[in-house]
Amino acid sequence: MKHLLITYHSQSGNTRQLAEAVSKGASHELIEAVEVRCLMAAQAGPDDLLWADGLLLGTPENFGYMSGGMKDFLDRTFYPVEGKILSLPYAIFISAGNDGSGALRAIRRIANGYPLKEVQEPLIAVGEVTATHLQQAEELGMTLAAGLEAGIF
Ligand SMILES: Cc1cc2nc3c(=O)[nH]c(=O)nc-3n(C[C@H](O)[C@H](O)[C@H](O)COP(=O)(O)O)c2cc1C
Repeated sequence: MKHLLITYHSQSGNTRQLAEAVSKGASHELIEAVEVRCLMAAQAGPDDLLWADGLLLGTPENFGYMSGGMKDFLDRTFYPVEGKILSLPYAIFISAGNDGSGALRAIRRIANGYPLKEVQEPLIAVGEVTATHLQQAEELGMTLAAGLEAGIF
């Protein structure tokens, strides 16, 4: 079994909706050999990262950056996993009012240090979460899980 960790922060529920869609896609019935763990960033820690073969990080953009909750997760886990994860495949999903680029840049910069390897284009859902965003989120989750199962990432 491969292990996929989805961890996200959400204040008003938009990123949570995306995370649930990502999780649904990753748990598709045709993907049999991937176990999915979907946790709020506050509930996730170093052990979850060490468990994971792949990672999806979800955050709202707050003040041109990732949310405090996602930053806290990265702050808490960086040193405990340092040297113990090798190029973990990952992708990013973001909910933003009108931009999202600041959150994306910030996560990418920190992810380089873990090191994480970005294996899919990020999903940036701007404005209200739409059915299209949810479909894109589902596809992102499915792609990560299918790629892990197939040994592509
Ligand atoms: C304190 C705060 C700061 C925000 N700053 C930004 C921002 O810099 N850029 C942006 O596009 N949206 C910004 N937004 C809007 C949120 O990114 C947007 O509402 C998002 O959907 C919230 O996701 P959530 O429901 O998962 O918390 C901000 C919202 C809050 C509450």
